[in-house]
Amino acid sequence: MIIWTVYDISSLVWSIFFSKEFAAFSIFVYLMMLIWKYQYFEQRGLRTPKFKFIVGNYFDLIKNKNESENVYKWTLQLGKTFGYYEGHSPVLVTSDLDIISEVFIRQFSNFSARKKNPMEGADTRDLNHLMRSSKCRWKRMRTIMNPTFSKQKLDNMSPLLIECIDRLINKIRKNNTNQLIIQKLLKKLTMDSLWKCTYGIDINIQNKSDDEYFEASEKVFSDAFKFKILKILSILFPELDSLWIFLTNFQNKIKKLIGFENEPKALIVEKFDKTLRERIANYQLNKKDYMQLLIDALDDEEKITKKYDKFDINELKDIHLEKKLTFNEIKANLKMFMLAGYESTSYALSFCFHMMAINKNEQEILYNEIEDFFINQSIVPDIQNVNNLSYLDMFCKEILRFYPISRVARRCVKESTIKGIKMTPGLVIRIDHRAIHFDPDLWGPVDPNEFFPLRHKEKRNPLSFLAFGVGPRICLGMKFALAQMKLALVKCLINFEIETTEHTPKFLEFTEGILRTTTNDFPIYFRSRLP
Ligand code: HEM
Ligand SMILES: *[C@@H]1O[C@H](CO)[C@@H](O)[C@H](O)[C@H]1NC(C)=O
Ligand SMILES: *[C@@H]1O[C@H](CO)[C@@H](O)[C@H](O)[C@H]1NC(C)=O
Ligand SMILES: *[C@@H]1O[C@H](CO)[C@@H](O)[C@H](O)[C@H]1NC(C)=O
Ligand SMILES: *[C@@H]1O[C@H](CO)[C@@H](O)[C@H](O)[C@H]1NC(C)=O
Ligand SMILES: *[C@@H]1O[C@H](CO)[C@@H](O)[C@H](O)[C@H]1NC(C)=O
Ligand SMILES: *[C@@H]1O[C@H](CO)[C@@H](O)[C@H](O)[C@H]1NC(C)=O
Repeated sequence: MIIWTVYDISSLVWSIFFSKEFAAFSIFVYLMMLIWKYQYFEQRGLRTPKFKFIVGNYFDLIKNKNESENVYKWTLQLGKTFGYYEGHSPVLVTSDLDIISEVFIRQFSNFSARKKNPMEGADTRDLNHLMRSSKCRWKRMRTIMNPTFSKQKLDNMSPLLIECIDRLINKIRKNNTNQLIIQKLLKKLTMDSLWKCTYGIDINIQNKSDDEYFEASEKVFSDAFKFKILKILSILFPELDSLWIFLTNFQNKIKKLIGFENEPKALIVEKFDKTLRERIANYQLNKKDYMQLLIDALDDEEKITKKYDKFDINELKDIHLEKKLTFNEIKANLKMFMLAGYESTSYALSFCFHMMAINKNEQEILYNEIEDFFINQSIVPDIQNVNNLSYLDMFCKEILRFYPISRVARRCVKESTIKGIKMTPGLVIRIDHRAIHFDPDLWGPVDPNEFFPLRHKEKRNPLSFLAFGVGPRICLGMKFALAQMKLALVKCLINFEIETTEHTPKFLEFTEGILRTTTNDFPIYFRSRLP
């Protein structure tokens, strides 16, 4: 009896759920909601570029894979602070330093999340790493990882990093044409050094021509750039995120099942998994690297670890957050380092090499400083003393100002009003870093469109340099990235004079997916300085 009743009710519910009337009604409600959502900026008295129903400004934004420039064009048109719609999700763009300092620094706890793709799922999902987490979950992880590049840890990494750079130099030396496609070599260098310095594994990738991990990781990145219909659907209809996540997983399972694709990510993830288990088993190794920091925090008690994750950061000011991670969180955060550190550093370095090749004057200033400090005083370069070269420091920063690689944005997690604008949870606040990095008021008097390292000698507003972001969520690997760039430049310049070939372009061309990188691989000529 009872069973029948339950059956009847559920079939009634199902038939309503799948009826045409219900579908029509749901679509009607959804469309009304969209109309209401598109009022967001108008209600706040903010201007927007012309947008279309359903897609908003999304396709104008990603047009020509030129996001930063497209946003900058809107800034020129609409002023320092305006809004646009990604699908129907509002994004507030600003280059107003007052708003930036409120959002990124003073009211950080109200804006402790990053902009996200709906496919990433909830910020608290076990598979989401530091970069994708927010609130107290972010704080728990960041507290554990902050010491990754402390002075002492960097000192320990110094010989490892030098070994990786020496491998690069040998590789260049061995090439009898002296003309090398630099991007691929630099990618291998950063991959090599990330594994060696942070995971404690020597994959000796620079010595291999097409190593499986290198190929695999290349695929991971190129995958992210592909035009993905599911990704676009998820941006246009984020309310259905569970459906998009389900379909993506389903698609991957099918691919695996029919052996269509040997899932490239799996190779890297498997290697992490194996190494992690080995390191946990051989706990006494105690290598003092990033992997060890994470392993030290390993805790099986998921409930204790995650008790406070959903709280805002200043809600729990007085509570001591336990420095614990679950096994899955460790795996996710291992993967994250590759995502965060690999392409960013290798492209930054390749921009440096390009600049030195086309601008011999800059190269000479750099070389003189290096000669004076290292060669004439017989000092051996290491991870700390490369910081003594002030021009080199300015050169690297100017490269990152001139060619910003990464975007910076926050997502509101708690309602707040800034400069009269009411910001509600979910709103993304995005910095127009193109506008700021080329603002003559912030970077003058020498024209910001000119490459001029000495402009960093003057004290500038700390919010005017955004290459590594700003506030408590600033790039975790900044010191490591800069040290690696400087060491590589110093050692290469000691060994080689860098020149253009007939195929080196005078101007770099860019393409922008997750990062802003160059479209074309170009060759550089290396002339040995040794007799
Ligand atoms: C030149 C190279 C690099 C550039 C230009 C760069 C840039 C950035 C930027 C702009 C952010 C966002 C900051 C913000 O939202 O305020 C970021 C975050 C991050 N970066 Fe880097 N990065 C570089 C290298 C690295 C390296 C080598 C690592 C690690 C080995 C790394 C790890 C991270 C992490 C973990 C975050 C997230 C921090 C958080 O959410 O708390 N980065 N980076
Ligand atoms: C991106 O925009 C800039 C400035 O408008 C333009 O010079 C450049 O050619 C554009 N790049 C692409 C790939 O369209
Ligand atoms: C030298 O470098 C070029 C370009 O990267 C490459 O095509 C060539 O195979 C290299 N030659 C040797 C001997 O490694
Ligand atoms: C790199 O490979 C070459 C030849 O493939 C080999 O002679 C050399 O010993 C290798 N170097 C290292 C450090 O493994
Ligand atoms: C370093 O030594 C070289 C050769 O002895 C000399 O020509 C050069 O001027 C010195 N550099 C500086 C900056 O003193
Ligand atoms: C390099 O800089 C550090 C810190 O500023 C300083 O203590 C050290 O003496 C400098 N080294 C040399 C060789 O100038
Ligand atoms: C966050 O916003 C609330 C409401 O506007 C405000 O009272 C609070 O001071 C803000 N938090 C910080 C750290 O400023």
